Amino acid sequence: MAVPLPRDADEVLEWVRQGMVSAPEALELLSRLHERRAGDPMTPAPLLTPGPGSLPGTSSRPVAPGPDHAGTSPRTGATAVRRSTGPRHTAAALRPAAAEPWPGPGGVPGERAVDARPLEAIWRELDSLVGLRDIKELIREIYAFAEIQKRRQQEHLAAEPPVLHMIFRGNPGTGKTTVARILARMFKEMGILSKGHLVEVERADLVGEYIGHTAQKTREQIKRALGGVLFVDEAYSLARGGEKDFGKESIDVLVKAMEDHRDSLIVILAGYRHEMDHFLRTNPGLRSRFPIHMDFPDYSLEELVAIAEQMVRQRQYALSPGARARLERILAARLQRGEGATGNARLVRNLVEKAIRRQAVRLISTGRFSRDDLVLLSEQDLGDE
Ligand SMILES: Nc1ncnc2c1ncn2[C@@H]1O[C@H](COP(=O)(O)OP(=O)(O)OP(=O)(O)O)[C@@H](O)[C@H]1O
Ligand SMILES: [Mg+2]
Repeated sequence: MAVPLPRDADEVLEWVRQGMVSAPEALELLSRLHERRAGDPMTPAPLLTPGPGSLPGTSSRPVAPGPDHAGTSPRTGATAVRRSTGPRHTAAALRPAAAEPWPGPGGVPGERAVDARPLEAIWRELDSLVGLRDIKELIREIYAFAEIQKRRQQEHLAAEPPVLHMIFRGNPGTGKTTVARILARMFKEMGILSKGHLVEVERADLVGEYIGHTAQKTREQIKRALGGVLFVDEAYSLARGGEKDFGKESIDVLVKAMEDHRDSLIVILAGYRHEMDHFLRTNPGLRSRFPIHMDFPDYSLEELVAIAEQMVRQRQYALSPGARARLERILAARLQRGEGATGNARLVRNLVEKAIRRQAVRLISTGRFSRDDLVLLSEQDLGDE
């Protein structure tokens, strides 16, 4: 691309507005801007936060999808498959397959621009998560893509309706629910979802025991999730019993709801990597309906320790140097025993919470304690697991 690197995200928007760059090129530029800043973890990625008057107004209306929503359509071509071990992801993966005109009215002129403050808080929360570098970057790209499409639509330019249903693959405790919650709020602030809440369900919430029961149960959960995100944990278990199992019916009801409520529902299917891969292989129609795939890798020892320190800080406690060393030893031993993959950050949370309870018992039994004592977790509070 023979376009120089823009100053900031606002300049990219200006170029889009003037028709100097296409949406895919804009994504590429935003991604390059992000890379330039990536060395500084405290610097938020380019936020599309135009000042007053830099765009004629920003609609808070949900992004209207085109009439052809079927998975095979080029309209749904915004794919963002990322593998943690794969090549470095670029904005190209989010590139729309075709730029057809996107029917529907443009933005409502004069509407208030998006208030950037809640979004900034969301970015801060996302950045504060330990590790997850690829996921953070992908989320910025999804954000940029959806935002640019929304603004292009307001400018009556050809725009892609973003399809935002997702597959999350990863072991327990790798941050899937946490990231889904952040995404739900982000989409609300962008005007894509009206409520931005998360409804977390599993097979038992969706599948019934007799004919008709499953459709009813699944529809109930969909209704609860409208305006937000329906997060289906261990989604592969819906395909467990084969053709005769009611899980299949639940999938059909879900897919239909994704069509019927395309403006008001985002569905995230989550589960173990291999199980989810098998699930998608055996349900090929599903894959194209879920164009965004996120891989949640297991945390390293360093990341687990950093997560523990963050959890301790958030609860207004502190680890003594001895406590920190013991925590590291415990986590290292657990990882060696292969328990890391079954617990990850959840394992850390259990350890921290147990230490807090042990400290309470220790303090109560001594009878006298200072403010510092109330804060400090000692080596013995960690136990010797
Ligand atoms: N990267 C992270 N940084 C800080 N805390 C994290 C991180 N990932 C997860 N946690 C914390 O670990 C706990 C478990 O995370 P979460 O529930 O999001 O995992 P999950 O992948 O949904 O697990 P499960 O499959 O068991 O539901 C939460 O308390 C969350 O805040
Ligand atoms: Mg979870």
